[in-house]
Amino acid sequence: MKPENTNYLRELVRSATGIVLEVEKEYLLEARLSPVAHREGLGDVESLVEMLRMNPDGVLRDMVLDAMTTNETSFFRDLHPFDALRQTILPQLMERRAETRTLNIWSAVCSSGQEPYSLLMMLSENFPELSSWNLNFLASDVSTSMIERARAGRYSQFEVSRGLPASFLVKYLSKVGQSWEMDAGLRKAVKFQVLNLVQPWPALPTMDIIMMRNVLIYFDNATKEKILRKACGCLRGDGYLFLGSSEVLMGLDVALQRTSIDGSWCYQPESRTPAVP
Ligand SMILES: C[S@@+](CC[C@H](N)C(=O)[O-])C[C@H]1O[C@@H](n2cnc3c(N)ncnc32)[C@H](O)[C@@H]1O
Repeated sequence: MKPENTNYLRELVRSATGIVLEVEKEYLLEARLSPVAHREGLGDVESLVEMLRMNPDGVLRDMVLDAMTTNETSFFRDLHPFDALRQTILPQLMERRAETRTLNIWSAVCSSGQEPYSLLMMLSENFPELSSWNLNFLASDVSTSMIERARAGRYSQFEVSRGLPASFLVKYLSKVGQSWEMDAGLRKAVKFQVLNLVQPWPALPTMDIIMMRNVLIYFDNATKEKILRKACGCLRGDGYLFLGSSEVLMGLDVALQRTSIDGSWCYQPESRTPAVP
C-alpha cells in the first residue's frame, strides 16, 4: 500500500477509536481491510482509501473501524477475576449494599458478549438472592457488529468450547441449528450499548464493578490515562476495576490502587471514600 494511504488509515483508526497501529502491525490494515474492499466491490484497499477520502463520514468508515478492532474473547477468560468476584468481592459488596439491594456492573469492552454472560452465569449459580435485587448490568463496545452479536447471544460450537463449563452449556444455552443460544433471561438482564471509550461518555450510574479487560493495550499512554481517570470517576469509592492480566498502570498518572484478591489483580480508587450503601 502507498505510505500516504497507510498513514491515512492509521490516523483514521487512532483518532476514531484510540487504537494505535504500530509499524509492525501495519500488515493488519491489508489483512483486515481487503475483505471489506472486496465485499464492497472496491477491488483493493487502495481503492477503498480513495473512496474513504471522498466520503470520510459514511458507512464505509464504520466498516473500516469495525474491521480494525480486535475482538478476541472467550467465556471465563483468565478465570482469576471471576474467582475474586465470586469468593471475595461480591459477598463483600452484597453485604455493604444490603440496604439498597442495588448493584451496578459494567463490562466496558464486551466484544461478542462472553464476558458479561460469564459474569451473569456466575452470579446466577452463586448468588441466586440477586434475582430480587436491582441489578443494573451494562455491556458496551465500540463495535456495532459486536454489540449486535452480543445482544443476539448466539455462539458457535468452537466458541462454547472455549472456557465454558459443560454444565453451564447445558443449563444456560440451547442448541439452535448449528449455534448455541444464550438463555433469554440472561440476555434480557444486560443492557447492550455501543459506547466508544475515546469519545464523550453518556451519563452512567456509579459503578460497583467495572470490567475493562484487554483494551488498554491498544492505546497510547495519554489515552490510557484519560480513560482510566474517567473510569475511576464513575467507580464507587469501594468499587472494583478489572483490567486484562497483561495490562499494568506503570508510568500512568491515575489515582488507582492495585490489590491482589484470590490470585487476580484489581484496582480501587486511591483515596477511598467510606462505603455508602
Ligand atoms: C480483545 S477484546 C476484549 C474483550 C473482553 N473484554 C475480554 O477481555 O475478553 C477488545 C475489545 O475492545 C473494543 N474496543 C477497541 N477500542 C475501543 C474503544 N475505543 N471503545 C470501546 N471499545 C473498544 C473492541 O471492539 C474489542 O471488542
